[in-house]
Amino acid sequence: MAAFNNRLHFLVLSFCFLFSFIACDNGGILQIHYPNISLEADTDGNVTLQSGADASVYIVPGTNGGSVYFEGEDLLHLIKVINGLPPVWKEHSATGFFYTAFGGETMNVKLEALDPENGKMEYRVVAGTMPPGLRIDSSGSRIIGQVPDVNAIYSFTVRATNTNDKYADAVFRMEIIERNQCIPSSPCQHGGFCVDTMGETPYVCNCTEQYSGVNCEIPCKTNSLGVKNASVIPEAMMSAFLTRENYTAADGRLDSSGGSGKGWCGSNANSWLQIDLGRLARVFGAISQSYSSTYYTGSYQMTYSTDGTTFNDVLGNNGTSLVLNGTSSSSHAVSKLPDPITARFVRFHPVSYSSSHYPCLRVDLNGCYVDTDNNP
Ligand SMILES: *[C@@H]1O[C@H](CO)[C@@H](O)[C@H](O)[C@H]1NC(C)=O
Ligand SMILES: *[C@@H]1O[C@H](CO)[C@@H](O)[C@H](O)[C@H]1NC(C)=O
Ligand SMILES: *[C@@H]1O[C@H](CO)[C@@H](O)[C@H](O)[C@H]1NC(C)=O
Ligand SMILES: *[C@@H]1O[C@H](CO)[C@@H](O)[C@H](O)[C@H]1NC(C)=O
Ligand SMILES: *[C@@H]1O[C@H](CO)[C@@H](O)[C@H](O)[C@H]1NC(C)=O
Ligand SMILES: *[C@@H]1O[C@H](CO)[C@@H](O)[C@H](O)[C@H]1NC(C)=O
Ligand SMILES: *[C@@H]1O[C@H](CO)[C@@H](O)[C@H](O)[C@H]1NC(C)=O
Repeated sequence: MAAFNNRLHFLVLSFCFLFSFIACDNGGILQIHYPNISLEADTDGNVTLQSGADASVYIVPGTNGGSVYFEGEDLLHLIKVINGLPPVWKEHSATGFFYTAFGGETMNVKLEALDPENGKMEYRVVAGTMPPGLRIDSSGSRIIGQVPDVNAIYSFTVRATNTNDKYADAVFRMEIIERNQCIPSSPCQHGGFCVDTMGETPYVCNCTEQYSGVNCEIPCKTNSLGVKNASVIPEAMMSAFLTRENYTAADGRLDSSGGSGKGWCGSNANSWLQIDLGRLARVFGAISQSYSSTYYTGSYQMTYSTDGTTFNDVLGNNGTSLVLNGTSSSSHAVSKLPDPITARFVRFHPVSYSSSHYPCLRVDLNGCYVDTDNNP
């Protein structure tokens, strides 16, 4: 106030000096007593401005965006805020807005409060909990998202605030009904059995033996277990017994063309190539390929193990060790097993090959990893 007083002193003294009709006696430094107008400024700083009876006091700012400040407060803005009306929610029941939704549904609810000022409205949740998965969208005027698959009632309060900071709250109640994900149509393909769950996944497919994957979409009979892909079966998971020179086990991947050449080579009929799949798989068949037309494996047998220690023969229909067809060509020779085997380790044992050379192979396996079956 001191600065204000000093300014007023200066102003008033200037008036005293300039206008002789203004009386500046020792009671005050400025006194204007015109008919029906009174303006007084005292030396102690009191200023009184009073209009006469039935007359008004006008404070008029410049028309081009001028303001009236009172102790730093923008009076015109303040008055607008005071006079402003709060938003009004569109018609709803006395206890709030009600919604019923099914788990997994997409929700898109427009938040509708009218602003009497016609300005921008802001909505936010001020109490309660919105169902997980739902949120107020980036435009700020809708509740969007995917309804969680649960049986629950959620209640929360949304506040609509207008530019004058006037607000109105509305309660939203959402009753969510868990949906049976297996009805009316099952997401499980190829005869997989659908089990509705309310856990982390909304449903689980119990696939038939020949299929795998979340929706039983993987056909195990033709699905590569990834031997040809070093990211799936790294070098350390390929090994061999009685390897010929530098034609290592890691070169034994289907379509391999790196390393010492196109394939693993054994030294004789006692050699074998082993794949460690890293985890259990149901193996439905094997694919082989030659190194060249002279370095090839015409036929082979397979053994398998779950622990890497005890190996069993892959058997044919008549109960004897199955002999599978290899090839002397670089095209893929695909063989199916009469019955799938469950194994982590699989060995290829060359049976026939060029007698003047030695057996070479590139291989892959068809099947499904047991842990991707997703069975409950
Ligand atoms: C001043 O006010 C008095 C009564 O309050 C009134 O009678 C008189 O007409 C006013 N004078 C002028 C100049 O407005
Ligand atoms: C000035 O205002 C103060 C506080 O309102 C009051 O106590 C004082 O008497 C006033 N001075 C005069 C000269 O009216
Ligand atoms: C999954 O399917 C298999 C064979 O069809 C069955 O034995 C098993 O009980 C099923 N599991 C569940 C949870 O339905
Ligand atoms: C190899 O396996 C990795 C990891 O599973 C995968 O990302 C990549 O696409 C595979 N590459 C090919 C050629 O299939
Ligand atoms: C593999 O070994 C053979 C014979 O020892 C040699 O001629 C050949 O260069 C080697 N190849 C590679 C890629 O090391
Ligand atoms: C079993 O079947 C294979 C061919 O599928 C045949 O070569 C073999 O001789 C049969 N063994 C017996 C004991 O019948
Ligand atoms: C191997 O090939 C022969 C002839 O090429 C065929 O008769 C036989 O059925 C094949 N065996 C298997 C197990 O596919």
